[in-house]
Amino acid sequence: MRVFMTGASGWIGSAVVPHLLEAGHEVTGLARSDASASALETAGVTPLLGGLDDLDVLRTGAGSADAVIHLGFKHDFDHFDESGRTERAALEAFREVLRGSGRKFLFASGLAGFPSGRPLTEHDQSSFVGPDSPRGGSERFAMDFVDDGIAPVSLRFSPTVHGAGDHGFTSVLVRIARERGVAGYIGDGSTRWAAVHRLDAARMVGLALEKAPGGTITHAVAEEGIPSKQIAEAIGRGLGLPAVSISPEDAPAHFGWLGAFFGADVHATSALTRELLGWQPTEIGLLQDIAENYVSGAEAPAA
Ligand SMILES: NC(=O)c1ccc[n+]([C@@H]2O[C@H](COP(=O)([O-])OP(=O)(O)OC[C@H]3O[C@@H](n4cnc5c(N)ncnc54)[C@H](OP(=O)(O)O)[C@@H]3O)[C@@H](O)[C@H]2O)c1
Repeated sequence: MRVFMTGASGWIGSAVVPHLLEAGHEVTGLARSDASASALETAGVTPLLGGLDDLDVLRTGAGSADAVIHLGFKHDFDHFDESGRTERAALEAFREVLRGSGRKFLFASGLAGFPSGRPLTEHDQSSFVGPDSPRGGSERFAMDFVDDGIAPVSLRFSPTVHGAGDHGFTSVLVRIARERGVAGYIGDGSTRWAAVHRLDAARMVGLALEKAPGGTITHAVAEEGIPSKQIAEAIGRGLGLPAVSISPEDAPAHFGWLGAFFGADVHATSALTRELLGWQPTEIGLLQDIAENYVSGAEAPAA
């Protein structure tokens, strides 16, 4: 298949690419800079120059592909509304060009925006509805593409897709702990994060391309929910810092934009995804990864 990807140069996307190439697919990837284009070429991907706001480029890429994997996202959490608008407009452009084709459209999503109190399953619907909601209400919008003769597949990634070289949420927690001199958790630390290793997540995306029928929601979840206190303790152990409770009132000042995410209880299963795709996570879990790859060789925090 000819696959068009956005985000092929990113954390998850760059791990997905080898699976696609090994399976014999030809991959074209959106590249917003010369550096990204050259990284894609080195990885065996044909770059298509443009950004997520260049809707004509997105239409060109999708129009000449047999399937689309959309992992690109503007991770500017200080301007999250704008990221959502870009996401929504990109999805509208993809819908326009894929309409009636029956082609697969795999897109990144997350596990925020659901009622808590029990583990989320692939049957739970996002409560983010409408263009002004977080991520532009992208999941609910894209899942309706089945009515347009497109085969959408949602890839709900755990809030931490961890691994060596991560620059996402877990690495930001480690940076904040170094800066503050304490490894914080919010309140009693009972809120949880589901977690998946980057390499397991990438393998799941490759399997979803091959096996998931249109209209499927998948969960890239290896560990259902690790209490935030345990995450903070693992960071603290590695950095030689105390793990301490931060009150919910102080969380925004302590954690900045990450506070809203770290305080969210994200507890999810992937039983249906494992059964459908025959996917089994095999990589190390988050707490071991923190010890081996996030805090090893840590320097003492500045006094
Ligand atoms: N990582 C996680 O823990 C996690 C958890 C839940 C959901 N997700 C979602 O999964 C998807 C992939 O995440 P990731 O961790 O791989 O993200 P990432 O490492 O930040 O990569 C983002 C990708 O989007 C591209 N991109 C950003 N802004 C762009 C723009 N204006 N124009 C064109 N391309 C642009 C980046 O290109 P450059 O290489 O040029 O920067 C990169 O390829 C995202 O939708 C993310 O929100 C991730």
